[in-house]
Amino acid sequence: MKKAFIKSYGCQMNVYDAERMTDILQAEGYQETSSQEDADLIILNTCHIREKAADKVYSELGRLRTMKNEREAEGKDLKVVVAGCVAQAEGKELTRRAPAVDVVVGPQSYHHLPELLRRKKGERVVETEFETEEKFEQLPVPPRERTIARGVSAFLTIQEGCDKFCTFCVVPYTRGVEISRPVAKILEDAHRLADAGVRELTLIGQNVNAYHGEDGKGGIVSMGRLLHLIAAVPGIKRIRYMTSHPRDMDDDLFEAHRDIDAVMPYLHLPIQSGSDRILDAMNRKHTAAEYCKLIERMRTIRPDIALSSDFIVGFPGETDAEFKETMKLVADVGFASSFSFKYSARPGTPAAEMDGQLSEELKSERLITLQHLLEEQRQDFNSKMIGRTIDVLIEKPGRHDGQMGGKSPYLQAVHFNSTHHQVGDIVPIRILDKSTNSLSGEILSSDIK
Ligand code: SAH
Ligand code: SF4
Ligand code: F3S
Repeated sequence: MKKAFIKSYGCQMNVYDAERMTDILQAEGYQETSSQEDADLIILNTCHIREKAADKVYSELGRLRTMKNEREAEGKDLKVVVAGCVAQAEGKELTRRAPAVDVVVGPQSYHHLPELLRRKKGERVVETEFETEEKFEQLPVPPRERTIARGVSAFLTIQEGCDKFCTFCVVPYTRGVEISRPVAKILEDAHRLADAGVRELTLIGQNVNAYHGEDGKGGIVSMGRLLHLIAAVPGIKRIRYMTSHPRDMDDDLFEAHRDIDAVMPYLHLPIQSGSDRILDAMNRKHTAAEYCKLIERMRTIRPDIALSSDFIVGFPGETDAEFKETMKLVADVGFASSFSFKYSARPGTPAAEMDGQLSEELKSERLITLQHLLEEQRQDFNSKMIGRTIDVLIEKPGRHDGQMGGKSPYLQAVHFNSTHHQVGDIVPIRILDKSTNSLSGEILSSDIK
């Protein structure tokens, strides 16, 4: 049997796509392997979001060229595929710059993988059409055992692409226009996943709260309404979603956080910067005060909500005073956890052409300052859990005998000892202690919810 190795970079959507590619390849008779040395087929599922991520691909491809030559000397074959957002952005350029590449396939056309792989040896192909709707129609349904093996927490794509065109971002170019999957298709997937033991669904999309899917009766369903429909799927106990845009936070979504127990008290809502001038230059189309209003409203509805955001420091022209506005916003809001990045100029985006590009040193300095504050807030948020009792969804056995590991509603890793609970159970745990990246606690009662 042929073996395939897939390596993913980038966001959850790439993780999801890698699983779908695995499903496609298994239907084609490939077995998944975790070792490149074993593989007859290597797929790099790439990310284009920052320069570093994209650069990694070329160094990896250099290495694979050597490996491929060695194989050929032994009379063996190795196929190399570049998938994901670098594939979409660079297309033919990849085959020109990297001789090891056999197939380039974009994130909206990987359902064509079987036919692309059947091409003659030595024939190099590039497939980067945008066919999002067709892709979803053609993805194979994985066997139930494989879904079971993937665990009790699963990603489910409900929306893809982005029409926002933030001036720094490549996603609208690599993933294409915003497309929402029809409600019936999403519910079909949710039922199938729940039936295979999935208890937590994370609904994913580049702009997930812009969701506007057809209900099959001529109507359009919002993200908030969709949450109600998914919460009604038997077996689904927890629902999360990411990533959201502040402009798309509507009443339905706020109310879903108020009315649906399964919707977890966690909101990832990127703001990028605390400066209105920078937000405008980024084309985010909202102010810092408008963002804070959304947060206030969410906290009124769900006082325990854990907040998370993305930040970019060193956007072109960002002054010290403007960076301090970001620091102030972070101090005012208080985040449970966040992602922060140095601005990276991306080819083809408007911000890459703007005046006032900042030095790496200055960007690094600002990033360190910001990350210091964000980390302090994360540790504070985790410390506040000590002494509290929180529900933990068990995801896997822990590292030690008798230990279990799972997640709190606030997405924190939690360990505790138990011999009579199973993966998939939700158990109230009293938190006793914390380390840098996790909490530990004890069982209060053996009741399984
Ligand atoms: N759709 C999401 C995020 C997509 S990309 C949103 O609108 O928020 C994930 C994060 O990467 C972004 O939120 C941003 O913080 C970061 N990012 C995107 N482009 C970047 C760039 N050119 N340089 C640095 N960080 C970037
Ligand atoms: Fe990129 Fe902006 Fe779209 Fe997010 S909303 S994917 S940052 S263009
Ligand atoms: Fe990267 Fe593409 Fe995701 S650029 S962050 S893999 S949408």
